[in-house]
Amino acid sequence: MNVVVMAAGMGKRMKSALPKVLHPLAGKALLAHVLDRSRELAPGKLVVIYGHGGETVQQALGAPDLHWALQSPQLGTGHAVAQALPLLDDGAPTLILSGDVPLIQTATLRRLLAAAGSDKLGILTVDMPDPTGYGRIVRQDERITAIVEHKDADEATRRIREINTGILVVPTVPLKRWLAALKNDNAQGEYYLTDIVAMAVADGVPVVSAQPDAIWETQGVNSKQQLAELERVYQRELADRLMTDGVMLADPSRIDIRGSLSCGTDVSIDVNCVFEGRVVLGNDVRIGANCVLVDATLGDGTVLMPFTHVQGASVGRMGTLGPFSRLRPGTELGNDVHVGNFVEMKAAKVGDGSKAGHLSYVGDATVGRNVNIGAGTITCNYDGANKHHTTIGDDVFVGSDTQFVAPVTVGNGVSIAAGTTVWKDVAPGTLVLNPRQQTERGDYQRPVKKKQS
Ligand code: UD1
Ligand code: CA
Repeated sequence: MNVVVMAAGMGKRMKSALPKVLHPLAGKALLAHVLDRSRELAPGKLVVIYGHGGETVQQALGAPDLHWALQSPQLGTGHAVAQALPLLDDGAPTLILSGDVPLIQTATLRRLLAAAGSDKLGILTVDMPDPTGYGRIVRQDERITAIVEHKDADEATRRIREINTGILVVPTVPLKRWLAALKNDNAQGEYYLTDIVAMAVADGVPVVSAQPDAIWETQGVNSKQQLAELERVYQRELADRLMTDGVMLADPSRIDIRGSLSCGTDVSIDVNCVFEGRVVLGNDVRIGANCVLVDATLGDGTVLMPFTHVQGASVGRMGTLGPFSRLRPGTELGNDVHVGNFVEMKAAKVGDGSKAGHLSYVGDATVGRNVNIGAGTITCNYDGANKHHTTIGDDVFVGSDTQFVAPVTVGNGVSIAAGTTVWKDVAPGTLVLNPRQQTERGDYQRPVKKKQS
């Protein structure tokens, strides 16, 4: 089939410089959701009608399988679809979607396509408790005879609760004929796509309908309120799926997944966690409250205490992180690694059994196995111009308040005294320290605060 996605509308009510269809839902542009669902149907032609901010939309979502048709000015939904006509394959029906209806499900679209076949006009309709603003489905003896827009409807028609979701499938050859015959003599002075329904009836083309599994599938986004509402709907659906798969969520209304989250068995997730990109959690992983994970992999049994941030990093089995730890891109922790409070790691490879419990920065570093990194340890990886590497062997004991002035290498089994600045390579098995003296003075007077007069 052909798929045409209408995305030319201004989105004025979003009050934003960003085109409406580029606003993110679950971290992904509204239009990208619609395109992903469309692609699941393997259409022969996938056409996006663009207008306002079109170049930005093309830059953001351009792909080899997409065709673009400009609609300028925007004279209505019928005029919009007409812009795509030269691109469509006559031999296949055309499915029409809206770029601002992001949560439409493929199963629903398949049902509509099946109902319409290749020779009928199919409309996705729903019964709305409050149908105000929508096009009404007019039926005679059960059969659809027309769609009447709210602004053009009389009182009796406005009482109809079955509405046009804006999603239709139409045989392409007559679609071309009908669109060419549209007039704009209506309340909005627009070329209504919906007028093709009465034309189909007049031409003896059967008009059928299908319904979505849930009303939210067909809800559009016209305002920031509606965007936020659909975000919650979507997140609740994802949360439900996780729980169905056995994940324990402290509160399904307090989790945000902006990408893919895959979980092993007996994973538990406390409140207010955010998952972005591709996150993979092994079996028995526990995520504390307020953690943020972006493109992260955690091995079996790993526990994140609250307020831990992991991005572009992987943790092996039985790790313990946080509270308040931060792993930045390129960090790879082995098994049984502990990273504690206020420890930041970047591009650090850390061997099994190593620990950094408190207040440290470990960046551009290779750390061996069973290394103990004391509080306040810093890898000085940046000389003001370039980044340099620190290599720490196995079984090294790093005393508190140590600085590694990279590039520097410390051999296996080294002990580093507290407060040492390590700026030269250290041979294995040695103790390294910077000789200093401790002096005591008895003649010292503490300053006393002056009295204010
Ligand atoms: C349209 C339907 C209405 C239906 C409602 C569902 C028509 C005439 N009416 O109403 O029956 O109940 O959707 O939400 O079709 N667009 C363009 N170019 C234009 C006008 C619109 O690309 O010139 C796009 C918009 O960006 C949007 C979609 O078409 O994605 C629907 O437009 P919108 O103005 O929201 O439709 P309504 O007039 O509300
Ligand atoms: Ca309109």
